[in-house]
Amino acid sequence: MRVLSASIELSNLISALKKEGKSIGFVPTMGALHEGHFSLIQRAKDENEVVVVSIFVNPLQFNNEQDLAKYPRIIEQDLEGLKKLNIDVVFTPSEKELYPEKPVVSIDFGKMATVLEGEFRSGHFEGVGIVVSKLLHLTQPDRAYFGLKDLQQFILIRKMCTDLNFPTEIIGVGTVREDSGLALSSRNARLSDKGRKEATIIFKGLNRFRSGILKKEDFDSILKNVNEMFFSAEGFDLEYLRVVDPADLSEIKSYDTVTELAVCVAGYVEGVRLIDNLYLRLK
Ligand code: PAF
Repeated sequence: MRVLSASIELSNLISALKKEGKSIGFVPTMGALHEGHFSLIQRAKDENEVVVVSIFVNPLQFNNEQDLAKYPRIIEQDLEGLKKLNIDVVFTPSEKELYPEKPVVSIDFGKMATVLEGEFRSGHFEGVGIVVSKLLHLTQPDRAYFGLKDLQQFILIRKMCTDLNFPTEIIGVGTVREDSGLALSSRNARLSDKGRKEATIIFKGLNRFRSGILKKEDFDSILKNVNEMFFSAEGFDLEYLRVVDPADLSEIKSYDTVTELAVCVAGYVEGVRLIDNLYLRLK
């Protein structure tokens, strides 16, 4: 496994691999790797000859200093895990390496970045857009893999790559969950056992939504019921519950006219911000 921290070294290696005609799969991460990341990496390994994983906690996508400071950083453990998976290349740039100067160019995702996460994390997706653009340029992958737990991120990155003709296929990989239903996240490391139990309300609420739709219950009453579940749950502080059309992230008020929908939730348990979603194809 080659661990590189200089962009020039990565670019040189990628040029050599391209000359050999190797296909490249890329998994960008912020470290604190868990089974969710490993499922992205496994998919990348299945579909490409060479896999590159990056580990970089991107300051541009945090709008809260404390959240950035508290983000788990366990690089040695991460590298051990990646070695076991026989990863070819790991890119671990420093902040100075990736941002020798603060970029003056920004990625504006328009309206789609002002809803859901964008409503509560101002500037977040602009920061994600910049770092993902830089990493895609450096890695020049055939395919890049993103977790569908961050559904809005996946949708926006895919849109950016289509709009700007990035030659990379953007692939979304399903959320990995604990047996309790809690979606795996690097942030879960900051939860106590009690907190982990309390956080399962998110999955329970999403499941309630799914069963309501499958039983063709009235949309408003499902929404009301799930909101009540969240508001009355001990230890859970709901930030938002929204039902959107995944095509443009516009909010939907009925499921009769749409072919697919996503129920998106964000909230806090023990001061840790958690997100999750349920995607449903209806027709
Ligand atoms: O999903 C993440 O871990 C990050 O947002 C990403 C895509 C690695 C960009 O920093």
